[in-house]
Amino acid sequence: MKTPNRLLPGAAFVALLLCAFALPAAAPYREPGRPRFHFTPATNWMNDPNGMVFYDGEYHLFYQYNPFGNQWGHMSWGHAVSRDLMRWEHLPIALREENDVMVFSGSAVVDWKNTSGFGKNGKPPLVAIYTGHYTKQRLQNQHVAFSNDKGRTWTKFAGNPVLDVNMADFRDPKVFWHEPTARWVMTVALPLEKKVHFYTAPDLKHWKYVGEFGPAGATGGMWECPDLFPVAIEGGGTKWVLVVNLNPGGPAGGSGCQYFVGDFDGHRFSPDASFPKGKDAALWADFGPDFYAGVSWSDIPKSDGRRLWLGWMSNWQYANDVPTTPWRSAMSIPRELTLRQTGEGLRLSQAPVRELTKLRGPSRHFAGGTVAEANAWQQRNATKGPAFEWIVDFELPSQDGGDLKLLRVPGGGIVVGFNPEKGRLYLDRNGANEPNFHPQFPGQYSAPLHALDRRIKLHLFVDASSIEVLADDGALVLTALMFPSGANPTLGFLEDGKGLKIRGIDAWSLK
Ligand code: FRU
Repeated sequence: MKTPNRLLPGAAFVALLLCAFALPAAAPYREPGRPRFHFTPATNWMNDPNGMVFYDGEYHLFYQYNPFGNQWGHMSWGHAVSRDLMRWEHLPIALREENDVMVFSGSAVVDWKNTSGFGKNGKPPLVAIYTGHYTKQRLQNQHVAFSNDKGRTWTKFAGNPVLDVNMADFRDPKVFWHEPTARWVMTVALPLEKKVHFYTAPDLKHWKYVGEFGPAGATGGMWECPDLFPVAIEGGGTKWVLVVNLNPGGPAGGSGCQYFVGDFDGHRFSPDASFPKGKDAALWADFGPDFYAGVSWSDIPKSDGRRLWLGWMSNWQYANDVPTTPWRSAMSIPRELTLRQTGEGLRLSQAPVRELTKLRGPSRHFAGGTVAEANAWQQRNATKGPAFEWIVDFELPSQDGGDLKLLRVPGGGIVVGFNPEKGRLYLDRNGANEPNFHPQFPGQYSAPLHALDRRIKLHLFVDASSIEVLADDGALVLTALMFPSGANPTLGFLEDGKGLKIRGIDAWSLK
């Protein structure tokens, strides 16, 4: 909060105060650029998602939060809960910076068997495992805290730290229960060495080093926020996925999210032989500039069976300067992960969680035609509001004629296109109308796409200041921030007369 202007004459100040009480507060969540269906804190700075866990009907989302400002600092865990992954209720800060120790990223689990002894009255405790970042020493180590009231209040364990190897960079513990070996496993990053270390514990307190992974894949920056979990293969079976966030060195420059597919036996992760060869070859969960610290939810019930995750929708290159106020940063949409068998091996695929369909208003359908006809349809049926979802089915011209612009955000300078020579789908933000807040904001970001049968199907989510493009049935995702002029972003088509056809559009405004 800003302090009142001291130069304001007394009477005017009193009048202002009276107004402030007489009028409803500035419409919450109606500020320019404020996302509607993406999670944002009401005010202040947010980065990584933390401690995502499902318990007793509630999805918990904790997040790196600065209680005192709109830029990174004083890291604490903000907290929200949701019953449907869509409507979030803000709760008080769960874990605060204290005694010159910031609360950095980490995870949370339900300790079903009360292995930690933190449980009370026969109920399992929620246990958070996070990095203590010392502001007066070059030290990071791992801490735990627990809650006996569904995450409403938290107690830091008196015996912290529970894991200390006396390193300046040692962070982001993600913990899960490994059934076959009946013990807890922690993945934790050694960012500068580009390694993930594996620790195990019987009780969440006594951790033992059992193995490590890396350097491997992309190593052009720090390894942060690892995650390790089994993922269902479409058509049957499961495999393990090791997620390693990387900053900088991502596919779009700056922060990026890579993964490895393989096996995990409780202490060793072995990547599949299908991992791409070559220096710095990597698999990317998202090819856009704004998906980082992707981590998954713990303890989704077996009856549900999904592996759900989301990421922080920003990039360390410019995160502190993103032009929004009084909050800064949003999370991506929650996505469901599966593995798909491809010619190159098993690859991650992402689908918007089905809960998102509940936000849909009446559906509008375009039955197919030329670019001009699709634009005319769009003029008549513009999806209302800053938040909407589109599924567009393109048919490419029968002859490759170079670069093809598929879609644009009018007033936003955003173009989504396809380059047939390179076989790449791209998102271009060079003409974005807020290109000046940071020199690294503009750019073109691309991902490999096989346009089989000359068809491209895009699933798009637009929400005031972001666009998520899913292609090839979720095999390829591009997430990007954007700041279009005017209140409501929309979509339109650019290329006419090039033989590009639109076979169909399904569009919904999202509540
Ligand atoms: C990743 C990160 C983590 C760290 C946190 C601090 O974005 O740098 O490694 O725990 O942010 O806010």
